[in-house]
Amino acid sequence: RVYPAAGTIAESANAAAPSTPAPTGLAGLRAWVAEIAELTQPESIVWCDGSPGEADRLTKQLVAEGKLIRLNPEWRPNSFLARTDPGDVARVEDRTFICSLDEEDAGPTNNWREPEAMRAELRGVFAGSMRGRTMYVVPFSMGPLGGPISQVGVELTDSDYVAVSMALMTRVTSQVLDLIDAGQPWVPTVHSVGAPLIDDAGVRHEDVAWPCNTTKYIVQFPETREVWSYGSGYGGNAILAKKCFALRIASAMARDEGWLAEHMLLVKVTSPEGRAFHFAAAFPSACGKTNLAMLRPTIPGWKVETIGDDIAWLRQGADGRLRAINPEAGFFGVAPGTGELTNKTAVDTLWGNTIFTNVALRDDGDVWWEGLTETPPAHLIDWQGNDWTPESGRPAAHPNSRFTVAAAQCPSIADDWDAVDGVPIDAILFGGRRATNVPLVAQARDWKHGVFIGATISSEKTAAAEGTVGELRRDPFAMLPFCGYNMADYWGHWLEVGEQLGSNAPAVFQVNWFRKGDDGRFLWPGFGENSRVIEWIARRVEGTAGAASTPIGRLPLVDELDLDGLDLPAEDVAELFEVDRASWLAECDLTEEYFDRFGSRVPAALRAELASLRYHLNA
Ligand code: GDP
Ligand code: PGA
Ligand code: MN
Repeated sequence: RVYPAAGTIAESANAAAPSTPAPTGLAGLRAWVAEIAELTQPESIVWCDGSPGEADRLTKQLVAEGKLIRLNPEWRPNSFLARTDPGDVARVEDRTFICSLDEEDAGPTNNWREPEAMRAELRGVFAGSMRGRTMYVVPFSMGPLGGPISQVGVELTDSDYVAVSMALMTRVTSQVLDLIDAGQPWVPTVHSVGAPLIDDAGVRHEDVAWPCNTTKYIVQFPETREVWSYGSGYGGNAILAKKCFALRIASAMARDEGWLAEHMLLVKVTSPEGRAFHFAAAFPSACGKTNLAMLRPTIPGWKVETIGDDIAWLRQGADGRLRAINPEAGFFGVAPGTGELTNKTAVDTLWGNTIFTNVALRDDGDVWWEGLTETPPAHLIDWQGNDWTPESGRPAAHPNSRFTVAAAQCPSIADDWDAVDGVPIDAILFGGRRATNVPLVAQARDWKHGVFIGATISSEKTAAAEGTVGELRRDPFAMLPFCGYNMADYWGHWLEVGEQLGSNAPAVFQVNWFRKGDDGRFLWPGFGENSRVIEWIARRVEGTAGAASTPIGRLPLVDELDLDGLDLPAEDVAELFEVDRASWLAECDLTEEYFDRFGSRVPAALRAELASLRYHLNA
């Protein structure tokens, strides 16, 4: 690929041929780096090796530049606070594009742009976008280096915050370069905050604490397996290995190669008898993945260990079973609501070596956010750098404030969390935030029914993406913002994977921790108490727990869910499991409308599931 030099962008719209996949070998990588440097014109280029020394150097530099605040090492050693621009606090779904050659391949749920037109637009915004800045070359492995389910990539970024975050979130090492040199395919990703320090007239400007641009582009080219991100420094928009590669690009790779790239946490669950199970669970952003991944059971004898909290790559193993890895190496978790009572494991994970973004700063140089402690400190500096007191009447931390920390630091991390061949999956859970209708837990009758449940998940919107919080929207498989191709084709792919797995297919469940009573309070205590649901699921997998058939799936038999020691009124328990036929029939109508958006690409098996659901609800 040859990019025109900056300044000749306008003529280039029709000039370039479609891009080919990433060049191979180290020479190919070097040529690509040179090409992007030619386009973006950074002042210098630094190749990262992910070492502790490098992280130390970068964070010191960020602190010196006023881009990170070093927290008081007495409370939080080697930890930092970043405050973003107030306009750059979450993923920007309306500026996220899937640029497949054919619009139909992106499907109605993605923003599509014709690839060549988008390339021309990107060349325009990236031209000179790194002037005055350093371009970091960050080679990373998703999954254990060289593992059979793993992949490698390279991110070029002009954000030192992103370079540091990548080293926490992925396996950044120069050994990746050896793999690339040996001919392994790699995914090229390019990121610029879109805030050059030298303007067109050659005048140098002062940097700001959080450089970004009001114009943003988060662009995926699924065919050529590339990511281009411009204008944002926020995690999901800028740490390109994560949502952009590990979900959007990887889901398209998985479709082509017969595996699955999913928005799922991974846990190892051990029963009191010592039997180990592995579960994968897909919940939309800010709907409880990190919490479930770090669950502390409240029921005796059960143990839950963490493997991953956000993304899973799953592939059928030589043993015929579906095996999963966590491709990441760190957690980028939601801070608010994370406290001693809800997620003590996360709190313990964050003892040090953590980057916090948009949380509040305490007077003693430590951090705070809503939910960390019951009583807020009397005085804080809020996420925007202003004085805050409990009387201020606004949150001290941004609702989507985050922590970035290495997975290995998590006290509940499982010993097999980075097993190269992954772990065998016994059950898959789908969930979302549903104040009504959806019961606490239900088991799918079979894989097809499970795919129907996954395909029809709705969830109330959260602060993890720009938009109206609380609005109910369809979020199939929790992949709505992350599926790199046509969502209906994706459902078809899941059905095919099920065929391939046959009797090895994991059991599928739907869960909902968020059902509310008429008075608006959560009916279910959630968090550690979710272990009661986990127990029932494990017992179902084992074949030792009973279930009652209902039109929407199999529900726990009365008394089979362990509610000992819970102060739950019987009416609440009944309401948690209530299946209201009229509301479900109304939901079926919405599902039909939803399916119709995808036209003939909806798999017949899912239409059949819908017909069967209606039939049983009417029976
Ligand atoms: P993720 O983005 O999917 O990883 O979600 P998190 O685990 O970070 O949780 C997002 C928000 O949901 C946090 O504020 C949590 O405190 C809250 N949350 C998580 N699990 C539960 C639960 O079981 N019940 C309730 N009521 N809230 C929960
Ligand atoms: P999450 O998404 O809420 O699923 O953790 C992180 C992000 O915004 O990139
Ligand atoms: Mn999370």
